[in-house]
Amino acid sequence: MGPKQSQALIENPNQLNMVRVARYERLIKANLERVWENVRDWAHLPWLHSGSFNFVSLDMEGDWGWRTWSSASHSGHVELCIDLPRQRYVARSYRHQQQISEIWTTLTPIDDDTQILVEFHVPDVAPQDSNKVGQIFLDLYKTLWDEDELMMRDRQQQLSPQPPGPEVVNLGTPAAFLQSLPRRVTIRQHTFQISLVAGDPVVYTTTCPHLLGPLSQADALSGQVSCPWHGYRFNVHTGACLSPENAKCRLRQPPVIRPDPVSGDLLLSY
Ligand code: FES
Ligand SMILES: [Fe+2]
Repeated sequence: MGPKQSQALIENPNQLNMVRVARYERLIKANLERVWENVRDWAHLPWLHSGSFNFVSLDMEGDWGWRTWSSASHSGHVELCIDLPRQRYVARSYRHQQQISEIWTTLTPIDDDTQILVEFHVPDVAPQDSNKVGQIFLDLYKTLWDEDELMMRDRQQQLSPQPPGPEVVNLGTPAAFLQSLPRRVTIRQHTFQISLVAGDPVVYTTTCPHLLGPLSQADALSGQVSCPWHGYRFNVHTGACLSPENAKCRLRQPPVIRPDPVSGDLLLSY
C-alpha cells in the first residue's frame, strides 16, 4: 500500500485552484542523511514539535513516505510522499478528504549542510489574503526547522567519534559528592547524569537508546526520565523502557560508585 493520493508526486494532482502563498529558503546545518532521516520520522512530530502539533497518530508508512491522522476522530490527515530521485518531498493536508494545502520541499546538499527550498500552496486563497496565509506557514516552518536543526545536529554529534575520556572518575568525599548533585560525568566516551532519586544517588546515561536523544533530569520521586524527541520513558534504576510498551531498547548499563579503599573518596568506574 502506498499513498492515498493518486499521482502523489506531481504538482497539484487534484487540479485545485492553487495559490503559492509563500516560499522559504534556508541552509540547514545538518547533512542530507540526517535531513532525510528526520523527514521520514513522523513520530517526532508531537514530541519535538509539541508547540505546533497536538495530535499525530500513524495510519501507514513505507518507503514512499507516511500518512498520519491529525485528530482522534480521523477527520483530517497529512500525507508525506518522497521523490528520492529528485531529492524532494511533498506534504499534503486534508480535512474531510478535501485537500487544504500542498507543501513541496527540495533538498540540496552543500558540503555537510543542506539547503532547503519550501513552497507553500493553498487552494482558493483570495489575492488580498495570500501574504497573511503565507506568513502563517513561514512562522510555523521557521519554528519546525529550528527544532529539527537542533535535533539533527545533536544526533550528528552523538554519532561522531567521542574523545576517549577517563576510565575512572574521582567524585570526591561522600559529603562533597552529595553536595555536588545533580551533576554530569563523562567516562569512557559516555556521559552520565548523577541525580538524587528518592534521596539516593542514581547514575544513568544522558543518551536515549532509541535514536540518541538527550536525557536530562529524572523525576526525583519516580526515577523516570523522558526523551524529548519521541517521548520514550525509562526507569533510571532498572534501565527498562516503560513507554512505548513495545519498544525494544533499554538504557546503557551505568558505571558504579564505590569508595576508594585508601582515601575513602568515591570513585565512578565500570
Ligand atoms: S531518541 Fe527517540 S525517544 Fe529518545
Ligand atoms: Fe520535524
